[in-house]
Amino acid sequence: MKKGKKLYEGKAKIIYACSEKSLVIQHFKDDATAFNNKKKSVIDGKGILNNRISEHILTYLSQVGIKNHFVKRLNMREQIIKRVEIIPIEFIVRNVATGSLTSRLGIEDGTVLDSTLVEYCLKDDKLGDPLISREHIFAFKWATKKEIEKIDKQLLRINDFLVGMFRGIGIKLVDFKVEFGRYKFNNKNEILLADEISPDTCRLWDIQTEKKLDKDRFRKNLGNLFQAYQEVARRLGILHEQSNVRPLRYPKPKAVKNK
Ligand code: TMP
Ligand code: ASP
Repeated sequence: MKKGKKLYEGKAKIIYACSEKSLVIQHFKDDATAFNNKKKSVIDGKGILNNRISEHILTYLSQVGIKNHFVKRLNMREQIIKRVEIIPIEFIVRNVATGSLTSRLGIEDGTVLDSTLVEYCLKDDKLGDPLISREHIFAFKWATKKEIEKIDKQLLRINDFLVGMFRGIGIKLVDFKVEFGRYKFNNKNEILLADEISPDTCRLWDIQTEKKLDKDRFRKNLGNLFQAYQEVARRLGILHEQSNVRPLRYPKPKAVKNK
């Protein structure tokens, strides 16, 4: 598969064209950002772990019937995915109150929600990804009613699957963010789960100790982000139990600047 020109660069990933028109290459960077890009750092090896973790989760989701963009891993940092038109909405699914839910509404951090809460945010960095309602989505035609109905059902299925998968490895799935895209190919017109699912986009707490194993380690200056992601990968069975070795750096070594 030949790598073509850069199509899009986001905060944590780059999308490249490839020789097959219906596919693209997704490259995972080591960049970490928070608070709408105000806090930035480079965490060596993060992209490698997210590439593997997202592959693992999306492969399992596909096996339980959640159609998604993942096709195949290419190398340590890259995977082939289906080329979709991203729906400009960040879908947030919450099981436990934390993060912006607590600061926005004054809900006590760690409150277990009686039922799963779905929130929609407009995917727009310049506006800080504001919270929006279904009415906004339909009024401004960011997605159709049919699409949102379909996605809402999928969100609950994805949540059920992920909660169970993480519980099995001693991790509580507190919340997560996903994105969906429209895939148009031949006569197909499908909604696919897209982007990534990784500790960058989920909140993962150790069940016993409530230790944070996700990007909150960066947001809250807790340190050891790489080690936490490595722990998630190890528990998922992606890395060997004994492996303490940092993955080889690629394309070139960078200093760890985890402020
Ligand atoms: P929040 O509590 O900051 O709104 O985050 C909710 C979930 O969404 C949490 O798992 C982190 C994830 N998230 C992203 O993946 N990208 C983002 O830009 C934001 C704000 C949150
Ligand atoms: N990814 C978002 C940003 O850079 C926010 C976050 O994940 O907290 O700014």
